[in-house]
Amino acid sequence: MLLIILSSLLWANEPKKKTTRRDVYKNRDHMRPKAIKKGEMLYRDLCWQCHGKQGMGDGPLSKALTSVPPPLAGMSSKKYSKMISIVQVGKGPMPAYAELIDKHDSKKILQWLSTLDSTTGEPKKASK
Ligand code: HEC
Repeated sequence: MLLIILSSLLWANEPKKKTTRRDVYKNRDHMRPKAIKKGEMLYRDLCWQCHGKQGMGDGPLSKALTSVPPPLAGMSSKKYSKMISIVQVGKGPMPAYAELIDKHDSKKILQWLSTLDSTTGEPKKASK
């Protein structure tokens, strides 16, 4: 009992740490897996039929199209803004998705694709 009181006193006396910029970035990193999971779910719903299960451009519908869906696995984050607008407005046989998914969710799809290896479409091995 005494120990509990003592330790809670100690806990209360622990100085509060200031939130630094670095902490904020760290927290964002913790949020990313959720965003990526959502991106994967949207992709499995809307995109794989043409772009392939692992983003390799080999979906079952790909052969019926007038132009070939490019592989998207291993997407570089440098391309996000351009690719987000393609998802929003469509391109060639690819429909526009602006009414179904907003820019943020479109980006989540691209973030999931960027976690895949561009040559195999398999999830990249963690670099850390
Ligand atoms: C009906 C088949 C089809 C569906 C469904 C589809 N796409 Fe596409 N997509 C294409 C085709 C075909 C192209 C190539 C268009 C062209 O260049 O003429 C393309 C191009 C793209 C590009 C541009 C790639 C580049 O390098 O220029 C992106 C990004 C993309 N699609 C993402 C998506 C996402 C995300 C979804 C799901 C929300 C999706 N697509 C659903 C067929 C499809």
